[in-house]
Amino acid sequence: MPEYKLYINGEWVDSASGKTFDSLNPATEQSIGKFQEGNEADVKKAIDAAEDALEKWSEMPPPKRGLVLLRIAELLKQDKERLGKLVTTEMGKVLPEGLGDVQEAIDVFEYMAGEGRRLFGHTTTSELPDKFAMTIRIPVGVMGLITPWNFPIAIPAWKTSAALICGNTMVIKPSSDTPLCAIELVKIMEKAGVPPGVVNLVSGPAKTVGQEIVKNKKIDGLSFTGSRETGEWIMANVGVKKVGMELGGKNPIIVMDDADLALALDGIIWAAFGTTGQRCTACSRVLLHKAVKEKFMKMLVERTKKLRLGSGLEKTTDVGPLINKAATEKSGRYVEIGKKEGAKLLCGGEAPKGKGFFFAPTVFDGVLPDMRIAQEEIFGPVLSVIEIKNLDEAIEIANGTEYGLSSSVYTKDVRNAFVAMKKIEAGITYINSPTIGAEVHLPFGGIKKTGFTREAGIEGIEEFSHSKALYIDYSGRLQKATIDD
Ligand code: UN1
Repeated sequence: MPEYKLYINGEWVDSASGKTFDSLNPATEQSIGKFQEGNEADVKKAIDAAEDALEKWSEMPPPKRGLVLLRIAELLKQDKERLGKLVTTEMGKVLPEGLGDVQEAIDVFEYMAGEGRRLFGHTTTSELPDKFAMTIRIPVGVMGLITPWNFPIAIPAWKTSAALICGNTMVIKPSSDTPLCAIELVKIMEKAGVPPGVVNLVSGPAKTVGQEIVKNKKIDGLSFTGSRETGEWIMANVGVKKVGMELGGKNPIIVMDDADLALALDGIIWAAFGTTGQRCTACSRVLLHKAVKEKFMKMLVERTKKLRLGSGLEKTTDVGPLINKAATEKSGRYVEIGKKEGAKLLCGGEAPKGKGFFFAPTVFDGVLPDMRIAQEEIFGPVLSVIEIKNLDEAIEIANGTEYGLSSSVYTKDVRNAFVAMKKIEAGITYINSPTIGAEVHLPFGGIKKTGFTREAGIEGIEEFSHSKALYIDYSGRLQKATIDD
């Protein structure tokens, strides 16, 4: 069984704990390797290395840092096939999506490389004569990056690419469900010439590694993507740090009576059951106009029943496994909750027997907006259908959860589209396409209890840099702002 190490100060080392853990292939439940169970001492060493590396890295001209990012993108391209298979093997998503995960990483490294020649500030006026005012971007410093398993290469890539181009150094704690994908990404960074100490990786439990990263005062910024509960714990314990948060969603697709139903069906199947429902942007609520409900429900159930479960490496598979046993149990629990609440189970609802963490694609009809299955993030292939009678009601229900990440409307009416774009409370709204599939040059993130920061796009560099104001007074005398003469 291969054993993998921590990456601290440019070296692959054992954990001080002397312990290891396994990462499982969720389709077979077999271990793919042993990983270091890092502890507080490992994190402290990694932080010290990142601190030492900060001055040199942050002083390298950003366009030069950009060249390192371009090399990372190039190496990812050369290795795309192998890495895509690894994503599928370690995380479970079907191979085209595993390759997509790697492609998203390539895209974001290319995009952020270009930021090296921008990192725009602005110049502005002064209220005083002979005085010049402008802003520049400066690094946050040593950053902690806590990354999830559902995009095990793409999300570490979003965070590291932006953190690197802005001149930060960092400690990554990858999810314990997908440490190998993060390790392979770090190996590529090493090969591309990221200097020792700039990127460090400490695998291990949230209770030791995660807590130390969150609480350690030498960490200047923390970027987290993951569950709502963990996010709330981080907010209560992080102290004074620059924080990035992205905590999931309960993303609705509204299907109006004038929608192209075949198109809406394709979008819903992809957004609800792609990645086995394990995207923060996955569609978990369909708000369906009553005039088309009967017809559309038949189409939806028929298509859902045809989806084939299996290993993501098989060409015939439509839906891969969930990430682990706890995830199948969670989906199962919510199916029971939905039934007890009085929703009608139309298909799926159970985990098939045998090896692998599979769960059948599930559709509930007759769901009411306040039911728990319509309010809480399940992160599995469980879809709730709620009937609506007009757009106003749909928008009210769409907005009636604590989350606000992605959303979508299928309609041919331009007025419906514009009203929805304005009124839906979310960080992302799609028209006539599903809730998943964000592109790396647009800002990604949510509002309400989903979070308050943006990754990717130009806005994505804000989480990983500070804006500094500069005033240059060339009047040759003391000028006092805001004081009356
Ligand atoms: C996530 O699930 O946290 O828009 C990220 C999408 C992907 C990213 C999802 N590009 O679905």
